[in-house]
Amino acid sequence: MDGNGRWAQERNLPRSFGHLNGAKNIDRVVNYLQDIGVKYLTLFAFSTENWKRSKDEVEFLMSLFRKRLKKVIQDRNQNVKINIIGRKSKLSRDIVSLAREVESYSKNNNKLILNIAIDYGSREEIVSSSKKIFNDILNNKISIDDLDENMFNNYLYTNGTPDVDLFIRTAGERRMSNFLLWQSSYAEFVSVKTLWPDFSQDDIDYSIEEFNKRTRKFGSVN
Ligand code: FPP
Repeated sequence: MDGNGRWAQERNLPRSFGHLNGAKNIDRVVNYLQDIGVKYLTLFAFSTENWKRSKDEVEFLMSLFRKRLKKVIQDRNQNVKINIIGRKSKLSRDIVSLAREVESYSKNNNKLILNIAIDYGSREEIVSSSKKIFNDILNNKISIDDLDENMFNNYLYTNGTPDVDLFIRTAGERRMSNFLLWQSSYAEFVSVKTLWPDFSQDDIDYSIEEFNKRTRKFGSVN
């Protein structure tokens, strides 16, 4: 969800206003994606590298996550299944428990699966999945010969979510920034100039049109 800071800067407002409006835009995007029948959405809310930001910004973002998660619990949406993906060990205990609550109340919803990545980084995900796998091998839960790409997938935070088809980067960025590296091996990449708080139905339509123009060969020939 890039561009919150720039959105605020353009209006001579503190960066936090950008995050606030970015958070509001999630509801609009999620509603529209349901209308057009998209089944899976993974949003990058906070990376394993975002802790390097100022203490004030990190604290603001954490309190925003807290508030938004509480609101989600209050609203009890019946359509969206929410998973909070990423490392839990550095997050405060109340955020982890709100995340569990959100996941638990929404677990039977199935119109849209929404993964929200908080303290997420692909490299961290791959290392921590590898540790879980080694542990299961050492405890004879799985055999080393069983390990293949499918099984590895099951150990990732995104377990249960199919590979990424469309990877959208807002605010004109053109890099992956440690997001869903394994899962995006064959994703189609679209970069839009719009800053996240303004990311609209038109941007979604444009990204899907771009996606539809691509020929996906997955390493094969047409
Ligand atoms: C990146 O823009 C955005 C973030 C690091 C934070 C995104 C978080 C939210 C929108 C809150 C979401 C809340 C929930 C519960 C999911 P940036 O700050 O890097 O913007 P810039 O590149 O213009 O500086």
